[in-house]
Amino acid sequence: MPIIAPSLLAADFSNLRHEMGSVAEAPWLHLDVMDGHFVPNISFGMPVIKALRPHSRARFDVHLMIEPVDPYLAAVAEAGADHITVHVEGNAHLHRTLQSIHALGCKAGVAICPATPPEALSEVMDMVDIILVMTVNPGFGGQKFLHGQLAKIRTLAGMIRQSGRDIVLGVDGGIDETTTPLVTEAGATMLVAGSAIFGKDDRRAAVEGMRAAARPAVLAASGE
Ligand code: DX5
Ligand code: ZN
Repeated sequence: MPIIAPSLLAADFSNLRHEMGSVAEAPWLHLDVMDGHFVPNISFGMPVIKALRPHSRARFDVHLMIEPVDPYLAAVAEAGADHITVHVEGNAHLHRTLQSIHALGCKAGVAICPATPPEALSEVMDMVDIILVMTVNPGFGGQKFLHGQLAKIRTLAGMIRQSGRDIVLGVDGGIDETTTPLVTEAGATMLVAGSAIFGKDDRRAAVEGMRAAARPAVLAASGE
């Protein structure tokens, strides 16, 4: 069963506390922080995360699309992040960044953009807790899933198996009931979904629908 992480970016920003409550059955909440520099959009930051934190029991899965990232890690952890995911792109000292995230007591994630090869993560497999494959170019919700990323998900699933570590393999962008079977079959164990959940009136049904659409890689592999 994959972990479902609703992305608050697609929620009604005039009513965030209520929106967050509407997806309370999901174990993770995905929070997209954008700076208008690393990505061509600006979303929300630490004050919003901090204000929401007391009103949810979900794990706060913070996806930082900002550059530089290091100066803000402590503030993000303080605001209430349980997981901090940073991008491999534009970070010459990713290793140090992941060490800093762990030192702050958070799980460390690495996101990888569509144009970046999976090998970019090979030297951090011993320390990363979450890998987030971007299945769209980051910056906006509601974009079309990039099918070309399926091969990368498979490769990273293999690299995770080889590491022998319990690394969560997430996907982010264009994930809905149609793409869920494809990504889970390829090895994804965590699904970020914005529009596919907050775009529906019945959020509980949307989360359940995604769970039901999953085709876990174990089952797929047994048929190979
Ligand atoms: C995009 C963000 C995503 C976004 C996904 O840069 O990282 O988390 O909210 O939105 P959907 O699910 O609508 O593609
Ligand atoms: Zn995201």
